[in-house]
Amino acid sequence: MQLILSALLSLFFAIVAAENPYRFFTWNVTYGTIYPLGVPQQAILINGKFPGPEIYCVTNDNIIVNVFNSLDEPFLIHWNGIQNRRNSFEDGVYGTTCPIPPGKNFTYILQMKDQIGSFFYFPSLAFHKAAGGFGAIRILSRPLIPVPFDPPAGDYTVLIGDWTFNVLMSGKTYRLRICNVGLQNSLNFRIQGHKMKVVEVEGTHTAQISYSSLDIHVGQCMSVLFTADQPPQGYYIVASSRFTNPILVTTGFLLYASSNRPASGPLPGGPTTQIDWSLNQARSIRTNLTASGPRPNPQGSYHYGMIPVARTIRLASSAGQVNGKQRYAINSVSFVMADTPLKLADYYHISGVYRAGSISDAPNGAGIYLDTSVLNTDYRSFVEIVFENYEDILQSYHLNGYSFFVVGMDGGQWSSASRNQYNLRDAVTRCTVQVYPKSWTAIYVALDNVGMWNLRSEFWARQYLGQQFYLRVYTTSTSLRDEYPIPKNALLCGRASGRRKRPLAIYT
Ligand SMILES: *[C@@H]1O[C@H](CO)[C@@H](O)[C@H](O)[C@H]1NC(C)=O
Ligand SMILES: *[C@@H]1O[C@H](CO)[C@@H](O)[C@H](O)[C@H]1NC(C)=O
Ligand SMILES: *[C@@H]1O[C@H](CO)[C@@H](O)[C@H](O)[C@H]1NC(C)=O
Repeated sequence: MQLILSALLSLFFAIVAAENPYRFFTWNVTYGTIYPLGVPQQAILINGKFPGPEIYCVTNDNIIVNVFNSLDEPFLIHWNGIQNRRNSFEDGVYGTTCPIPPGKNFTYILQMKDQIGSFFYFPSLAFHKAAGGFGAIRILSRPLIPVPFDPPAGDYTVLIGDWTFNVLMSGKTYRLRICNVGLQNSLNFRIQGHKMKVVEVEGTHTAQISYSSLDIHVGQCMSVLFTADQPPQGYYIVASSRFTNPILVTTGFLLYASSNRPASGPLPGGPTTQIDWSLNQARSIRTNLTASGPRPNPQGSYHYGMIPVARTIRLASSAGQVNGKQRYAINSVSFVMADTPLKLADYYHISGVYRAGSISDAPNGAGIYLDTSVLNTDYRSFVEIVFENYEDILQSYHLNGYSFFVVGMDGGQWSSASRNQYNLRDAVTRCTVQVYPKSWTAIYVALDNVGMWNLRSEFWARQYLGQQFYLRVYTTSTSLRDEYPIPKNALLCGRASGRRKRPLAIYT
């Protein structure tokens, strides 16, 4: 009897410890011609497609993507919003991963660990993002974890940006996952005659509130539900730029299956330059504290508002010239690439690639200078980051490897008194946040993911010209529980060329 029981028990453990499913993708990255505005344009295609194939997966799935670079220049893909836990080697930005040389391939090994939601991938080097090479990532909840709304009749992704888009659908209640994959414009998204109920932002199930139009800033994603319950005909879907002059407008169509009447009437109007409108909308989007996330009821045991902050990091952008060239900076440092990915320099203890302490914890008003800026932080510390925007444009910031709590945003100068208005109860967690002109945004982040993580402006020209740095989340531990060793197939470059990949035989 006991024997049978222990046999059963070991079977049970074998099952619960079973590996999560693997999904394999082979991608061929090529140049091709597309006609986004009716005129031929050279684009980056993946398997002949623009946008690239959607990655469709479930929490904890292993995603194996073998990327063949058939361009004539180095190429890398970054997974915007995917946390790559313990594994910044796979992050696909220049500071973590060597570029895939032309004619070569690299296999990314990603795990969608403890994540749900709507994200996207894009090429991270140079200005490739402007030419395409991006696509959607959709992480579904595991089958037994309840989702706080009925299954929609259809689930679609809309990648909006500085490109035209088109959506065709019909029927009942649908889910739209909308991502702003553009290079710099905040967009307002709306569907003529239909309200949209926000249900998810970047992996957080929100309290479900309906809106006539929604602001989506560069790099951000959100899911809405809408019901096709209006008189059957076509309706305009509109995305218009925010805070720009002139306002750029792109349209798509929502069609009802039962009718071929085209969309008619004026395009639905939306906000243009109003900042308060956008700020109020952002504040109204809250976490649904009783809804499941990647795990059932994660908020039950975790109250971010009660954790003492170990450190406050204040970051301010600036624009100016260095050596007669336009540059952008954070806390006066305009980031320049080193000759070796910073993560590899760390892993192989190669000194002289970057200096710890090359960016300060607070703006100091100094002029802009060039450096490979890396901010050191302690693993498992809980930090407050305040993005201060003294400039007259809206900013959008993204932190790789993490989802953070957006605790507050407001106009004017941040001070310690600003903390009195923080939302310490039901703020959303996300990976990309806007900072309004002459305003601040504060986030809390639990630094529980060891690695070298890019913090950048999502405005592509700005990050390219220096408005970014790396957050090094460091521990002296070499345990696999804290960080994985370098992948066996890692490409090596710069001063890491020719190094051994798995120094300890036990891992090979
Ligand atoms: C990628 O596509 C190009 C163009 O169609 C083709 O020449 C090449 O063989 C493909 N490479 C792979 C690895 O499939
Ligand atoms: C390149 O692709 C081959 C399969 O065609 C694979 O065996 C190899 O591991 C890939 N290279 C890298 C660096 O991932
Ligand atoms: C929050 O989620 C719960 C659980 O799924 C759901 O019943 C409730 O309607 C949601 N509340 C709001 C305000 O969306």
